[in-house]
Amino acid sequence: MTTDIAEQFRPVAPPYVIEDAYTEDQRQRIFKVVRENAPWPLILAENFKSPEEVIATTGGIIPEGVTLTWDMILQGNGTFRGYIARQGVCFYPELNDCYYNSRFLEIARNYWGAQYAEPETFLINIQGPTPIGGPPHLDGVVFRGMTMENTPLWLLLTMAKSRMFDHWRSKKMQVTGWYYKGNIGGGFNYWPDGPRGEPKQITSPMWGRAVVAENEMMFHHAQATGPVAMRRVSGLDISSVMAPDPAVEGGWRIETNGTITKQIPANEMRLLVHWGARVFMDMADLKRTFDHSDDITQDQALNMLTDEVRRRGVTFEMPTDPLTDRKFIGMLSQVFAVNGPANIPADVDDVVAA
Ligand SMILES: [Fe+2]
Repeated sequence: MTTDIAEQFRPVAPPYVIEDAYTEDQRQRIFKVVRENAPWPLILAENFKSPEEVIATTGGIIPEGVTLTWDMILQGNGTFRGYIARQGVCFYPELNDCYYNSRFLEIARNYWGAQYAEPETFLINIQGPTPIGGPPHLDGVVFRGMTMENTPLWLLLTMAKSRMFDHWRSKKMQVTGWYYKGNIGGGFNYWPDGPRGEPKQITSPMWGRAVVAENEMMFHHAQATGPVAMRRVSGLDISSVMAPDPAVEGGWRIETNGTITKQIPANEMRLLVHWGARVFMDMADLKRTFDHSDDITQDQALNMLTDEVRRRGVTFEMPTDPLTDRKFIGMLSQVFAVNGPANIPADVDDVVAA
């Protein structure tokens, strides 16, 4: 059953690569904003309240009797995040042209064959050498009436994985660009032909290269990055941050509870710049969204999910706070787990790259 659903996860149109996603002038301003507005928190700290929410999002199965801890999730995970814009607001006016980006908006409309597009998210992922960036995953989905503003990410992704809510699902796409001078891993793996199809790879070094894709419906992840000996980050904590190293030009460092746990040289800093848009096929589609004439509510969504759970013969107790109840979240994540790609390309290590 889950295998059939997995097959449905394909982007609306074939992804494609563009070069020079940002001009050199734009790139310099992006880098300046990223440096001047650090420190940046871990992605996990930004988006999740409990380890079960991470699992519900990444689609993993929690083994029977196992209680998750942050330590289990954080092993090897060292990617940090900063928001540059959200919805209609760019937080840094010096990057207005990058966000309200007429070239990208045209790309967005053309990708969907849609009449209208609006910029929706602009964020950065920043990291040094790391092991592979977790299993292939899907990006955050939003629905008419249920978005990141009023709904936890784990619930949005569980809804997406169930494929029961496509009627309300927003049409999105991204231009995901990278700046990484290293050449040991650090690229991007993606499955445009579904999780059973052949993976495609963008390989480093990448300087302004970007993929145009619908990442909500396409499994993807970052490759292991940097020299193998530098990939482990010890002492990582959910409160760890990444900040510029004041002693090294272009260098960065990871700080945990006031202690420097890792230094990252400038040429091993990997920056992902993620620009996302929401598109509307036509004026009727746009009006339906902004008039809220066909929204879904949280109650309706939870009812549909739990009805389906019961229909599949799974028994559970309805908690008083389903949005944060770890047992309930873990149960839904197992029932609606999607079997992601198993054919993950081998990590590039120093020997192969040399
Ligand atoms: Fe992603």
